[in-house]
Amino acid sequence: MNTRTFRNEKLIDRDNEINFFLDWFRSLPKLILWVYGPKSSGKTTLIEYVVEKELFEDFENLKPKGNWWVKYINLRRYLISNYSSFIEAILTPEKDDKGKKEEKLSASFNIGVFNIKAELLNEVKNKEKDLFKVLMEEIQNRTKKNRQPIIIIDEIQTLEDIYINGDRELLKEFLNFCVSLTKETHLSHVVILSSNTVFIDRIYNDARLKETSRFYKVDHLPKDITVEWLSSEGFKDDEINLIWDYLGGSIPQIQRLMMFRKEFKTLKEYLEHQAFLAYSQIVMFYHQGKFPKEEIEIFENICKEILNNGSFVLSKDRDSKYLEVISKWAEKEILFFDPLTLEVKGNSRIYEKGMEKLEL
Ligand SMILES: Nc1ncnc2c1ncn2[C@@H]1O[C@H](COP(=O)(O)OP(=O)(O)OP(=O)(O)O)[C@@H](O)[C@H]1O
Ligand SMILES: [Mg+2]
Repeated sequence: MNTRTFRNEKLIDRDNEINFFLDWFRSLPKLILWVYGPKSSGKTTLIEYVVEKELFEDFENLKPKGNWWVKYINLRRYLISNYSSFIEAILTPEKDDKGKKEEKLSASFNIGVFNIKAELLNEVKNKEKDLFKVLMEEIQNRTKKNRQPIIIIDEIQTLEDIYINGDRELLKEFLNFCVSLTKETHLSHVVILSSNTVFIDRIYNDARLKETSRFYKVDHLPKDITVEWLSSEGFKDDEINLIWDYLGGSIPQIQRLMMFRKEFKTLKEYLEHQAFLAYSQIVMFYHQGKFPKEEIEIFENICKEILNNGSFVLSKDRDSKYLEVISKWAEKEILFFDPLTLEVKGNSRIYEKGMEKLEL
């Protein structure tokens, strides 16, 4: 396990993942890379580390390492429900610096948008010019200058509203644009991140992206790394076993434990309290979710199997209601569904400890 410093804090491990991304970016763009994993497993932190520290030599001054040209767009900050809000999230007019002193925009803002001429932006807004043609030209201009574009879109589930209520074609066009950048022209890498695997799976199947995609899971830490990390922080073997049983390899939950365990008499008491909070979240959803009885039964069957077998597997002979129930509880961040293995688990280990308290 390597510990790095990132934004003045310890970045735990992720050696394999960092190397995976670097190898990926060094190869010819051929497939869209979908990065998925449970809520708060560390996807954003990891990709931001790779961007800021591995793809840039000096991030604050936007000096890239080698010939990378990176756009990292995190959609979480935006409410996107139609074409114009989508445009506003990803395009910004180039600053006209005649006369006025140009204000310096932060590095993370700058790499978070495509800068295009104000006039062109207006034409795109009015649909006089095709958005994706304009983006393609922007990218081709970079490759002509021997730069290797990398486009990373985080929190793609923000586009769910477009998909459900709005311009479904826009989302398809966007995904087709990603296919043309990778599989067809090999011009740019495209990485799409989300923890909402039910949504990813739906758009991916809808846009028929099977032949053009690679999935990569960023999970909570595995046991060996978690044990190494906890012992480097001074925890004893029996404490480590207890923490692993309650929190698994969830990085933010272990960080929280280190901050707040002193407020409890014992480590066990702290962990039991966390398990109770997870249980109470589940119970509150029983009451707020207005689930029909049948759906509660399905949820409880899933929980039972997770507790007995370590996971629940969505096999072909399950009632079709199962996926609907899984997707509701995944949205509430209680369950995590892996579309590749069809396995369902607690979104993190603590929810499984909460399920134990349902006494099923
Ligand atoms: N490798 C790491 N080392 C130290 N802290 C980490 C690491 N990975 C994640 N964290 C911390 O865990 C928290 C959650 O991480 P992050 O937001 O990156 O997860 P995520 O998978 O992107 O979550 P979401 O599913 O909400 O998008 C953050 O506060 C972050 O600082
Ligand atoms: Mg994230």
